[in-house]
Amino acid sequence: MKILILGATGGLGHDCRKVLGQEHEVICPGKEDVDIVSWDVVIDAFDSLSPDVVVNCVGLTDPEVCEADPFALRKINVEGPRNLAQSSARFGCKIVHVSCGHVFAGRKAMPQPYFEDDAPHPLSAYGKSKLESETAVRSNSPNYIIVRSHWLYGIHGYNFVKSILQHAVRGVSTPMQLPDDQFGAPTWSHRLALQIREFLNRDGRGSYHSTAYGYCSPFELARYILKKLNLKAPIEPCSLTALSGGHLQPVNCILENRLSKKQGVNVMVSWEKDLDTFLEQFGDQLIQEAGP
Ligand SMILES: NC(=O)c1ccc[n+]([C@@H]2O[C@H](COP(=O)([O-])OP(=O)(O)OC[C@H]3O[C@@H](n4cnc5c(N)ncnc54)[C@H](OP(=O)(O)O)[C@@H]3O)[C@@H](O)[C@H]2O)c1
Repeated sequence: MKILILGATGGLGHDCRKVLGQEHEVICPGKEDVDIVSWDVVIDAFDSLSPDVVVNCVGLTDPEVCEADPFALRKINVEGPRNLAQSSARFGCKIVHVSCGHVFAGRKAMPQPYFEDDAPHPLSAYGKSKLESETAVRSNSPNYIIVRSHWLYGIHGYNFVKSILQHAVRGVSTPMQLPDDQFGAPTWSHRLALQIREFLNRDGRGSYHSTAYGYCSPFELARYILKKLNLKAPIEPCSLTALSGGHLQPVNCILENRLSKKQGVNVMVSWEKDLDTFLEQFGDQLIQEAGP
């Protein structure tokens, strides 16, 4: 397959490029070459590249920027995916679009997970934009895969594993406040890229949840990482609502990969197993990079 990956300089896009590139022809233009916000640029790219599949790893994800800049949010998270979906439909191409658990309100009693067909009810500007992006993809392209995931980390891009390591390695004395009342599954972007490859190889279609198994809170996650790497850092549990913007985040972010399990295409494993592998492979490098 000829696969066009957009957002390949980002955390997930980087791993998609690596994983999908092992079996398929991948084309990974940067934002300066294909800005998904521009309809003309997008349609020209499809015309000249003729991809079989487009994988959209583009997104505005910083919650504070999302709340502060609704214009950019709409352009990047909603109009961009719509441009890609409409172009995909026009050129008979499959679209893979990545969404997240923030489309749910997260008020289910713990530890009941969210299923693909549960009613969405986003709280934040980011969550609302992701829900709108899903609608834009579903309503404009007959051949789509929407993958909802959560708490991505990987070797590329900034993420919570890196922020915890920076806190530890730089010897910051102020304790890092981390919620102990919010729950989800930290998911390795490499694993999600493997899952996307599996969906493509098995001609998956529809809306899937794809997160690691199990769940933890950000506080438990930080403790786990520090213990695993034998590091010490001041961290303190707090409630989600005590954090700035915390009231706009779902408390229960646990997603069940029901559809992929039912179809026999699920490749996800427990969050501990993947995080252990990730830290074994990249722990030393991450510690070095986290230094002042
Ligand atoms: N991070 C998470 O925890 C998480 C969880 C669930 C779902 N997701 C979803 O997964 C997707 C990827 O997330 P991520 O964390 O990998 O994002 P990321 O690291 O922030 O990467 C975003 C990518 O989008 C590119 N980009 C931004 N604006 C663009 C534009 N107008 N046209 C073309 N490219 C543009 C960026 O390019 P530059 O580097 O040049 O700016 C970058 O390559 C997003 O849709 C996100 O909502 C993320």
